[in-house]
Amino acid sequence: MNRRYRKTIIAGNWKMNKTATATKAFAEEFKALLPKSKWCDVVLCVPAVDIAAALRAFKDSRVAIGAQNVHFESSGAYTGEVSAPMLADLGVRYVIVGHSERRALFGETDAIVNRKVRAALGAGLNPIICVGESLEQREMGVTMELIALQVKSALAGVSGEQARRCVIAYEPIWAIGTGKTATGEQAAEVCTFIRATIRSLYGARIARSVTIQYGGSMKPDNAAELLAHEDIDGGLIGGASLQADQLMAIIHAANQN
Ligand code: 13P
Repeated sequence: MNRRYRKTIIAGNWKMNKTATATKAFAEEFKALLPKSKWCDVVLCVPAVDIAAALRAFKDSRVAIGAQNVHFESSGAYTGEVSAPMLADLGVRYVIVGHSERRALFGETDAIVNRKVRAALGAGLNPIICVGESLEQREMGVTMELIALQVKSALAGVSGEQARRCVIAYEPIWAIGTGKTATGEQAAEVCTFIRATIRSLYGARIARSVTIQYGGSMKPDNAAELLAHEDIDGGLIGGASLQADQLMAIIHAANQN
């Protein structure tokens, strides 16, 4: 990470876990562990139905609340969906867009991801844009081409000023929920490449201000090594974010760098 130019952000992605009641209990435990001084930005991306409880529980704390998905239209006949203006009106600040689970299980294409990114930015939300290759793609040697395609298509039609509000999360699919973490070198190589891709689109000044996270089995015992790299500005954490003490240990690791 490089705190001079950009924010360090540790974000939890709870995925489809925890009820509103469990959210409140987590918040009490987590707030008690939060250090007084401001080390890094902390975001919790909770299930849509837990957002209200999370916002209430973390009111007056420095934990920002994020959503895990958003529709690309602002309103209309889209039964079951939630729009960006709805999230923004509640006080949500971040939204995960294009997580590999949504791409693989819910048919989200790069074009849909781009529409969602623009919808989020238009409503004043900060999108956390997920990109990452499968094991097959890594073994075929097409990781960088794929990452460039995902980053460029997610940011199509996004202005430089808007790009500064985007967070990019590099999440190799083979490392998600598998306990298999990318090595610091593997993660850093791709995160550096993502920054170079942003530089090619928007120039050096904007590229150096964008937060780029790593995600995929990030845990208290491997976080410090990953976060030591200049271009890894934080983490998007699944499993380990469900336990207050583990998430806090990762925040402490971010502070060591
Ligand atoms: P895990 O940390 O459980 O591997 O999940 C990573 C992830 O998908 C975060 O979005």
